[in-house]
Amino acid sequence: MLVTGGAGYIGSHACKALHRAGYRVVAFDNLIAGHRAAARFGELVEGDIADTGAVRAALRRHEISAVMHFAALLDVGESVREPAKYYRNNVTGALSVLEAMAAESVRRFVFSSTCATYGEPLETPIAETHPQKPINSYGESKLAIERALPHFERAHGIRFVALRYFNASGADPDGEIGEDHSPEIHVIPRAIEAATGGRGLQVFGDDYPTPDGTCLRDYVHVADLADAHVKALERIAGGGASGAYNLGTGRPHSVREVIDTVARVTGRDVPWTLAPRRAGDPAVLYAAADEARRVLGWTPRFADLDTIVRTAWDWHRAHPKGYDEK
Ligand SMILES: NC(=O)c1ccc[n+]([C@@H]2O[C@H](COP(=O)([O-])OP(=O)(O)OC[C@H]3O[C@@H](n4cnc5c(N)ncnc54)[C@H](O)[C@@H]3O)[C@@H](O)[C@H]2O)c1
Repeated sequence: MLVTGGAGYIGSHACKALHRAGYRVVAFDNLIAGHRAAARFGELVEGDIADTGAVRAALRRHEISAVMHFAALLDVGESVREPAKYYRNNVTGALSVLEAMAAESVRRFVFSSTCATYGEPLETPIAETHPQKPINSYGESKLAIERALPHFERAHGIRFVALRYFNASGADPDGEIGEDHSPEIHVIPRAIEAATGGRGLQVFGDDYPTPDGTCLRDYVHVADLADAHVKALERIAGGGASGAYNLGTGRPHSVREVIDTVARVTGRDVPWTLAPRRAGDPAVLYAAADEARRVLGWTPRFADLDTIVRTAWDWHRAHPKGYDEK
């Protein structure tokens, strides 16, 4: 298995799940946001996905039969300010991986997509059939690849599963790996940072049409995401058809609920201040997640918010400076 972005947050958890399922794992990562210490479940090949030759060489040398593609940039705000960066890394980069696969006759591809491909929801929960109209270049960059995949299947026989994650969160329940983004942009680690004396947390808007006025999101545990990838791979390896599936729990939680849960689990105050709404933040985003259950046989094991926050807290408490290798 080649796992691009295998030194990153979700990719490293996928490497662990694959390793545990008996696969030989090779992580391919340029370490722009990843950590050498996270790529501990197989060999790490340092390289950029834009370097098609390097990807081809890795596919050949390690006799790779399938690729999981996590490598991407994912800061929505940055994608609004610097669209070229997102098109270059997420679109051109993914095309480079697919081109390398076509050239080396590797025909299984699991793709990290996102609920950001849906844009402003017309209805919730969001099903896979919901129109895909992204409102930022990050979402566009992922949708561009989703749209390219059937063409690569027709031309080169590359079977694929695109997995549209909602809010990835939590950490490895064994405490071996966790979330370490710099700067951190996700609310659970940001709330933990605030609870432990770091930067205070900003809550963007408390006047949304939701029960407590803050945004509702669908938090899905990273180990559950990793399991879904293994199941997706098994489906296409077993001859199943290509497809796209939401990965969420289907249970929305508000930002205030996240803050309260972090306070309860850590036993500390979470200092926060109110900030204006951010452009492009829908009030409510959560998944209709039945298709992944039905077709992939995926059931989230860590679906409740307390467990998600507890695993994140356990990892942060044991690694207050993250991987601390810089
Ligand atoms: N975190 C979330 O909530 C979330 C939600 C939906 C989708 N996703 C998608 O999941 C994937 C992984 O997200 P993450 O949170 O683990 O991010 P991450 O930044 O922790 O991991 C991405 C990894 O890709 C590597 N990378 C980036 N560009 C590269 C390149 N050009 N060549 C080689 N390696 C490169 C980085 O070094 C990093 O290790 C991304 O594709 C992201 O769009 C994430």
